[in-house]
Amino acid sequence: MVELIITLTLSAIFFFLFNKWKNSINSNSMKKPPPGPRKLPIIGNLHQISNPPFRCFRDLSNQHGPLMQLKLCETTAVVVSSPELAKQMLKDLDPSFADKPRGVLPDIMFYRSSDVVFSPYGDYWRQMRKLCINDLLSPKMVRLFQSIRSDETSRLINSLRESSGRIVNLTEKVLLYSNSTTCRAACGGVVEDNETLLKLILESTQIITSFEIADLFPSSRVVAALSLTKRRLKAMRHKLDVILDSIIDRHKRNRVSGLGNSEFGSEDLVDVFLRVQEEGQLEFPIHNDNIKAVLYDIFLGGTDTSSTTIDWTMVELMRQPRVMAKAQDEVRQVMKGYNVEHNDGDVVYNFKYLKLVIKETLRLHPPAPLLPRACMDEQVVNGYTISVGEMVFVNIWAMHRDPSYWNDPEKFSPERFENQSVDFVGGDYHFLPFGTGKRMCPGMTFGLATVESALAQLLYNFDWKLPEGVAAQDLDMTENSGITAARKHDLFVVATPYK
Ligand code: HEM
Repeated sequence: MVELIITLTLSAIFFFLFNKWKNSINSNSMKKPPPGPRKLPIIGNLHQISNPPFRCFRDLSNQHGPLMQLKLCETTAVVVSSPELAKQMLKDLDPSFADKPRGVLPDIMFYRSSDVVFSPYGDYWRQMRKLCINDLLSPKMVRLFQSIRSDETSRLINSLRESSGRIVNLTEKVLLYSNSTTCRAACGGVVEDNETLLKLILESTQIITSFEIADLFPSSRVVAALSLTKRRLKAMRHKLDVILDSIIDRHKRNRVSGLGNSEFGSEDLVDVFLRVQEEGQLEFPIHNDNIKAVLYDIFLGGTDTSSTTIDWTMVELMRQPRVMAKAQDEVRQVMKGYNVEHNDGDVVYNFKYLKLVIKETLRLHPPAPLLPRACMDEQVVNGYTISVGEMVFVNIWAMHRDPSYWNDPEKFSPERFENQSVDFVGGDYHFLPFGTGKRMCPGMTFGLATVESALAQLLYNFDWKLPEGVAAQDLDMTENSGITAARKHDLFVVATPYK
């Protein structure tokens, strides 16, 4: 009797395991992964990835198709390079691809991805994003910050006047401008240890796109323990904590004495976070780490993207004297009659050509060339299966240069936007410098205002030339390997005051 029971139990277990195996074979054979280059054991396609990744992805996609799978050690990445597929995945199948990939950088520098950029898709992300939009990034708030922008552009112009006729590093000056503008708007003043903050921002943006070994072997504790980047990030986080804690402490002190921290006497973003933290009414209570994560998002998002756009615009204008002259003519016409010396406080100029110039810069040099997403539920796209947890990179850099959508795509020509309604608000899928869908950039209005204000003042106040011996056509146009696709080399120029 006992033998019979044992035999029956073993048979049941055998049939159960056999069926499970058969089902998994069946379901796997139904799944067809996107095509991709041949993979090596263990590392997969890692040896084929070169810097900057968006250029390398474009070249590989030209061979393997607009939906391409890459195996990067233990992880799988799907690269999307066509507007039709981007639309399908980011709009039609939304929110299946609204999640973000996990990684050591978001884990360490963004306090377990509790910011907005790296936060998993869900209610917490929605809550934090909404707070940022309401209290910092809405068009109303951006208008309010006009006086900060005016003040910071004055500072930029004055520092260039001081070096007039001499060679200056414009990249560095513009980075300082956009960082100060962002910090003053978000936390009521320039950060005390600004130099360290800027270093951390630049280092973080570089680490984000370099494929980190600990992210490629997520199951291995040994690899994680040996990761040098992880150690480097922990040291960086320590420095970041000091800066962000001191901002929060200052705000707490001022709140006790009833002072608003913003430059307008009201609450700034940090005050708002502290208030809602105290009120305790939020669906997801927030702690200091959550505030620090979002603050670092804003510093990073607001600084590098805007300064990179200003920098690339100036580089393109130096290479194209015709476009430079046309943009300067417009700016000088429009601003004529205003008290530019005192920066006109709240005046908002109406530029047409300058806007086209900025659009064209964002096409050729999108500061965020890859939209990183993660698949939240299995989907079949174009007949290929994309599985849960796979990383997805939408290569907008490649789409912005696709000859089937753009005439002479490598040419910098603002006029191409003159008679077409193509815009960057997320509906034209071949032009997505601010992304699209649920995760679209909430800082678009803020960023564009920062960029336009600086460019207008730079073009109005100075005539520009390159240092002796440097020819415009020799300017190196290659990008750095960081996430914001900044130019590899700083821009050195000579500024001569216009009046
Ligand atoms: C020229 C300026 C800027 C460009 C080109 C830009 C571009 C982008 C892009 C491409 C994304 C990803 C969108 C997606 O995945 O669909 C993004 C996300 C984001 N950006 Fe910007 N950005 C700029 C300025 C700013 C500024 C000034 C801020 C804040 C001060 C900001 C804050 C953010 C945040 C918080 C996200 C994450 C949104 C989310 O995941 O929900 N950005 N940005």
